[in-house]
Amino acid sequence: MYDEKQLVSRVTTWVLACAEYARQNVEQIQDIKQKSGEYDLVTNLDTTIEAKIEAQIHKHYPDALIIGEEAPKQHLTTAQGLTFFVDPIDGTLNLVKKRDCFAIMIGVYDGERPICGAIMDVMKNQLYWGGPNIGVYCNDTPVTPPEDSLLKDGLVGVSWRQFLGNRFNEIKIAQKSAGIRVMGSAGLEFIEIMNGKHIAYLATLNPWDFAAGQILAESLGLKVVKTDGNRLNRFKTNHIIAATPTAYQQIRRLQHF
Ligand code: IPD
Ligand code: CA
Ligand code: CA
Repeated sequence: MYDEKQLVSRVTTWVLACAEYARQNVEQIQDIKQKSGEYDLVTNLDTTIEAKIEAQIHKHYPDALIIGEEAPKQHLTTAQGLTFFVDPIDGTLNLVKKRDCFAIMIGVYDGERPICGAIMDVMKNQLYWGGPNIGVYCNDTPVTPPEDSLLKDGLVGVSWRQFLGNRFNEIKIAQKSAGIRVMGSAGLEFIEIMNGKHIAYLATLNPWDFAAGQILAESLGLKVVKTDGNRLNRFKTNHIIAATPTAYQQIRRLQHF
């Protein structure tokens, strides 16, 4: 067994230490490699931070499963015990092009049970952390659940490729909203809906992109589901909607498949 409070405290400590390391090294990124294409990148900062986090997980939770973006992929459909979803740098293209607007994320489950999430906005030095049993905090301040606004009054975050493809009627959804925004980091998009600056986020995400955000957003009463309204598959790529409850209902009515 493990102590849940201690686990949360360790996760936040690791993320804060990695963010400090990232800020110290942000101007010295040497090793930029392409993965699936020209704009899907990995740098020495991504791999170093993932290795640092994984070393800590192995040390303290040797039996835990780790699903890290840069590690060799395991094809899981279910997991028992502790599972850590790790995105060492979320928004690597932003890191490379802007040296800003990227996050470090960890989401932790015990079997099917969400335990805690952590999303660190590295350059702002803001850590969003928490879970269903402890609530959500930005650094030391509790985050209040965002207002449940109408779609017409709120900004909607999107991943731009999905938006241009208009696969689920994203353009119509955008026209019915106050406007769209593209952050280039799933973690920062989740932060925007948690702090009430955006009311929804529409994207196609991998498990390490949404694990922390889903745990935190659901702890605040937000909806995080597949585009078709079904539960996310935690081990697969999903088309997602993360939204405040009323915006979620309105978006669902506007979608087509
Ligand atoms: C990406 C970012 C981006 C989202 C992509 C992700 P990465 O993560 O979160 O905003 O649109 O789907 O893959 O590759 O920079 O960790
Ligand atoms: Ca990443
Ligand atoms: Ca990511």
